[in-house]
Amino acid sequence: MAVKALARHGVGSEPRAARPGGGAAHLFAADGADGPILIKVWADADRAARQVRRQRQVARALSAGACRAPGVLFYDEACRAMGMPRIDGMDLAALWREGHADVPDLAGRWLRAYHGVTLRPCPFDPTGQVNWLSRLIEAVLTRQRNIPGPDGFAKAARGVQAMAGGVTGRASARAVTHRDMTLSNLMLDRDGTIWGLDFENKREDEPLRDVFTLTLDLMTHNGQDGDGAVARLVQSYGAADGTDPAVRLFLQGCFCLWVWANTPMTPSARQLRRLGVADNLLQRTTPVI
Ligand SMILES: Nc1ncnc2c1ncn2[C@@H]1O[C@H](COP(=O)(O)OP(=O)(O)OP(=O)(O)O)[C@@H](O)[C@H]1O
Ligand SMILES: [Mg+2]
Repeated sequence: MAVKALARHGVGSEPRAARPGGGAAHLFAADGADGPILIKVWADADRAARQVRRQRQVARALSAGACRAPGVLFYDEACRAMGMPRIDGMDLAALWREGHADVPDLAGRWLRAYHGVTLRPCPFDPTGQVNWLSRLIEAVLTRQRNIPGPDGFAKAARGVQAMAGGVTGRASARAVTHRDMTLSNLMLDRDGTIWGLDFENKREDEPLRDVFTLTLDLMTHNGQDGDGAVARLVQSYGAADGTDPAVRLFLQGCFCLWVWANTPMTPSARQLRRLGVADNLLQRTTPVI
């Protein structure tokens, strides 16, 4: 598909598999007329169209400065193949594993720019979260949903629900979130520009959801000072979001419960590490995000 798409779009070299197999999309590297390109080929046509549409929007909104998204060079619908400039750098997950200390600041800076495009202040309404937690508690206790420690989950979820009254109407914000905001969806190039990748969502949501998923990534990777890293993430993200600390703590609890509710009975090592972080954060009485 990448070969066919390249031929039709008149660019240079034979594509080479950049990341074969596995995921929902395959990536191929090639040399385009104006430099190296990356071709993302999806199995699913609807997903391809959604991602391409959203990447076009984000690339337009973040087209200058130190925080950007790669533009779409071409989209071949029949091949479900999108061409974009290939970023000459490393993703932040790899940099973090290598001990690159700036990663939390870089991630916070990019996310602040991204949310900044759509961010709007808004009084907090926890109704959606409270109802979602009620449905989860029911599903877990009746074993329609099998997760580790169902009774502990129900207790913790009721504890978070009980905070709802105290957070209603407090300062918070809404923004179009990334919804897959992992360190591997951010790259740093040789000029110090930070690039976001892998866009799809176009709906408004709690912006702190993205801060939380970055927090999980920062805290689950080996050997670093997790709390210090998250403090740096939040500080560099910070001013973009004026959310009340009580709302932050409530949302932090909800996001931790989301991790727990999505942990299978026999978790992988990664799922287990994420559950460990969520469990740790659920015990906190002050927000880290
Ligand atoms: N334009 C690019 N230039 C350089 N490297 C890229 C580029 N786009 C993606 N990559 C690399 O490939 C990896 C996977 O890309 P991407 O996040 O788009 O795919 P994915 O996570 O498999 O997508 P999906 O979640 O849609 O299945 C990234 O983490 C990054 O390391
Ligand atoms: Mg990705």
